[in-house]
Amino acid sequence: MRHGPESTGPEPGPAGTFEASFAIADSIPGWLTRDQARVLDEAARTVPPAGTIVEIGSHRGRSAVVLARALGDDGRLVAVDPFPVDWRYGDDGTEAAFRANVDAAGAAERVDLRVATSREVRTSWEGPVEGVYVDGKHDVWSLRDDLRWAAHVRPGGWVLVHDAFSSLGVTLGLLSVLPLSRHLRYVERTGSLARLEVARPTLRDRVRPARELPWFVRNLVVKVLLRLHLTRIAGWLGHHDAADPY
Ligand SMILES: C[S@@+](CC[C@H](N)C(=O)[O-])C[C@H]1O[C@@H](n2cnc3c(N)ncnc32)[C@H](O)[C@@H]1O
Repeated sequence: MRHGPESTGPEPGPAGTFEASFAIADSIPGWLTRDQARVLDEAARTVPPAGTIVEIGSHRGRSAVVLARALGDDGRLVAVDPFPVDWRYGDDGTEAAFRANVDAAGAAERVDLRVATSREVRTSWEGPVEGVYVDGKHDVWSLRDDLRWAAHVRPGGWVLVHDAFSSLGVTLGLLSVLPLSRHLRYVERTGSLARLEVARPTLRDRVRPARELPWFVRNLVVKVLLRLHLTRIAGWLGHHDAADPY
């Protein structure tokens, strides 16, 4: 695990570079590759002045720092996480770590932390959202529920979903929604980060997620190999990390 940020780096905002943001984020423990962070950075930079974006699942702030620093001065990131202490990687210091990391990244003024579940915040939400980053609870039902945030996103806005085609729950959730959706189209993925657009999908859009199934199966095999401590064989499949694929 990586340790907390040591320096605040340059000022955040569209004038600050992605490299500066990722240097800070990369010192925060979490699950987000450089390429995925770049997708988040680019998406947040499309947000108009005073726009709001939402993050579901914040942990210690690795992704929140990237998103918030890429917003304009009046932009706002609503970060939603109940910080359950019984979650596999959570503990009673996670919320404080999130606040400290966001503060050290110079992004505290743009982050509105809601210590609550995604559903609790969504069901009382009013107003438009420019984009949503989904990285919360990874079961089918939570993922399906999190995708309902898309109803608040303007047409043409983005919904990014982490652990797509690497987590069983997230993948089944996506596959149960995308082929039949009338307002969400699958665009592409960066590793396990799926990019969806709030737009009417074409037939080709509906079928496109199925093309990721070979990669999904490969990830399931890697996970089994890691549980069996067969890391060398996982390496033959191109996985060279102790963590599950993401
Ligand atoms: C994979 S982690 C998020 C990682 C984070 N995005 C990062 O970059 O480090 C998943 C997070 O979802 C949170 N979570 C669990 N249940 C949730 C819920 N119902 N709504 C929102 N977040 C939830 C957990 O507390 C955990 O911090």
